[in-house]
Amino acid sequence: MKHLVALSLLAADFSNLRAEIEMVNNSDADWFHLDIMDGVFVPNVSFGIPVVECVNKYCTKPLDVHLMMINPDNFINQFHQLGASVLNVHYEACTHLHRTIQKIKSLGMKAAVTLNPHTPVCLLGEIIRDLDMVMLMSVNPGFGGQKFIENTIEKVSRLKELILKKNAQTLIEVDGGVNLDTGKRLLEVGTDVLVAGNFVFKSENPVEMITKLKML
Ligand code: DX5
Ligand code: ZN
Repeated sequence: MKHLVALSLLAADFSNLRAEIEMVNNSDADWFHLDIMDGVFVPNVSFGIPVVECVNKYCTKPLDVHLMMINPDNFINQFHQLGASVLNVHYEACTHLHRTIQKIKSLGMKAAVTLNPHTPVCLLGEIIRDLDMVMLMSVNPGFGGQKFIENTIEKVSRLKELILKKNAQTLIEVDGGVNLDTGKRLLEVGTDVLVAGNFVFKSENPVEMITKLKML
């Protein structure tokens, strides 16, 4: 499979959201990545349900929703109604992860588990075959524009080994500090989906940067 690029809206110009959405619609990006922060699981608050509603109304690409919140189970139905195609929950926020994953899948969404930088991939051994995707955080979640944590490259390799060993079909997504350099190296070790925020939205020519990420 050719790799996918998911655009993190967190770095967009919110005073011009409709135009930013249209820019992504008309680009080579595959997914919209929406970062939902609760101010408890992460030390920041981003945007909430009315903004997701607005994005869903105008975007023509699948929504990849990243829930940085405690008790994500309470919002699974709501994000399904809001049009999420992929729902990412944090391993660190789910006590009954298996139940959470089954619930996401029962609604027809793709189920993804996200790991913070310190959480080892071996913890997913018993559940990897149930997961459509694992997302590795390559920065500490909560803020865009941070520096890529180098250990993520080795971590992707370890995750790929686990997926192959367990004969799973799980995709690997990486989120945080992705640019042309880190993106290239992540793809070399088996990453399937690159999330990009600041690198694209803060550049002079976002559409061209998305194409460059797709052509890596
Ligand atoms: C961080 C978010 C990321 C972030 C990526 O908590 O999950 O999706 O917006 O932004 P960049 O690409 O700027 O690191
Ligand atoms: Zn994210």
